[in-house]
Amino acid sequence: MAGKTLVRTIQRAKRLAGEIIVPGDKSISHRGAILGSIASGISKISNYSPGKDCLSTLNCLKSLGIRIIRKASVVHVYGVGLNGYKEAEDVLDAGNSGTTMRLLSGVLAAQPFLSVISGDASLRARPMKRLITPLQLMGAKIYGRNDNSLAPLVIKGNKLHGITYPLPVPSAQIKSAILLAGLFASGKTTVAQKEMSRDHTERLLKQMGVNVESGSSYTSVTPMVKPLNSLNLFVPGDISSAAYWLVAGSIHPNANIKIVNCGVNPTRTGIIDVLLAMGARIKLENQRLECNEPVADLYVESSELKAVEIKGSVIPRLIDEIPVLAVAACSARGTTIIRDAGELRAKESDRIATTVRELTRLGARIEALSDGMVINGGSSLVGTEVESHSDHRLAMSLAIAGLITQGKTNILQPQAVGISYPDFWETLERLAR
Ligand code: S3P
Repeated sequence: MAGKTLVRTIQRAKRLAGEIIVPGDKSISHRGAILGSIASGISKISNYSPGKDCLSTLNCLKSLGIRIIRKASVVHVYGVGLNGYKEAEDVLDAGNSGTTMRLLSGVLAAQPFLSVISGDASLRARPMKRLITPLQLMGAKIYGRNDNSLAPLVIKGNKLHGITYPLPVPSAQIKSAILLAGLFASGKTTVAQKEMSRDHTERLLKQMGVNVESGSSYTSVTPMVKPLNSLNLFVPGDISSAAYWLVAGSIHPNANIKIVNCGVNPTRTGIIDVLLAMGARIKLENQRLECNEPVADLYVESSELKAVEIKGSVIPRLIDEIPVLAVAACSARGTTIIRDAGELRAKESDRIATTVRELTRLGARIEALSDGMVINGGSSLVGTEVESHSDHRLAMSLAIAGLITQGKTNILQPQAVGISYPDFWETLERLAR
C-alpha cells in the first residue's frame, strides 16, 4: 500500500490474519455526548469514536457553551441540565455528519435562542424535510433552504408539545431527534415505526432515568421534570466498522481475523445475519452486556459465499453495510438481489449509484435498481482507478474489494475514511501480509 495522501493503492493480500479492535461505535458516541450535555453532572464516555463525525458533535456542543475535555478516547462532558445551553456565536458546523445535525436539532428546537446549523456540501444536499416536519408539528420554529428541505437549518427555540408521529422512513436519526425534543415537550411523545431501527437512544435514555416505553413498532418518552442522570459509558466497538473485516475475512481465501469488544446490538447485526446466510464462517464469543449494550468478540475465516436476497425488515439493521455487502456479493456464487434500500440514495453519497459505478470499474457485474442492486457474483475483479466520492463507507468497501482484485486498485480520496475510522488503513496494513 503506497502512503500518498490523495490516493491509496491496494494489492491482493496473500493472507489476512490477526486480532484487532475497531473504533468506538459512532452512533453511540454521538448520543452519549449529546445526552451527557443535557444531563446534570459530568458524564464520562470511554472509547469515544475518533471519527470526524463524532468530533463535529463535540465541537457543536462546545459552541453551545458545553465544557468538554477529551484525552485520547476518553471524553468528559460537563452536563448543564435541560436548559443550560448558551446561544452559539456562529453557525454550528455539523461537517459531514447527519447524526450531529438531526439529533442536535431535536434539542435546539426547545432552547430559548436562535441556532443556525450547517455542514459540508454532502450534508447540505441530504434530506431534512423528514426532520423539519415532525419538529414543526411539535411546535418548533425550524426552517431550511429549498422549501424547508435542505440545510442550513435555522431554529428558533419554542415551547414544544408531545405528538404521536408515524415515521415515513425507518430512520433512527429522525426517531432520536423527535424523542430528544419530546424530553422538553408537554405531554407524551410517541414515534411509531413499521420497521425497527437502531435503539441506542432509547437504551441510553433508560439508563439516565427517563421513562421510555418501547415495543417493536413504537417508542414513547414522557417529558422530564428532573434532570437526566449523568453517564459513565464505555462505547463498544462499531459493528459498522467491523463489517469491513467480516466481509474481508469471508471473501479472502486465506483469512482468519478476530475482532474484540464489538457491539452486537440486534438492531445493528443485520450484516452478521446476512453473511451467515451467505455461508460465512463467523462466530460470536464472550457475549455480554456492557452499559446496556450487547457486546461480543467476533471471529471470521475464509468462506465460500452464496448469493441471497436482502430486503424488508433487515435493511435498517444493515443500511450502512450495503456497499461492503455488495463487495461480498461480487465473490458469492449466484445472483444477489438487494431491495427496499432506497434510503441509500440519501446517504453521504448516493450509495446505489456510487457503489454500482465504482464496482463496475473493477469488473463487477452489478446493476442499479431504484431501491437496490442486482449483483452477479463470481466474475474476477481487476484493479484500476476508483473513487470514494468522499464517502467513507465507499472508500473502505473499495479497499476490501482491492484485497481480492488482480493487479492494483488505486482509490482516490481515501482520506474519507477519517469520518468514521481514521485508523482503517493502518489496520489494513497490519492484517494484510
Ligand atoms: C444513524 C442512523 C442511520 C445510519 C447513520 C447513523 C444513527 O441513518 O445510516 O449512519 O446514528 O442514528 P438514518 O437514521 O438516516 O437511517
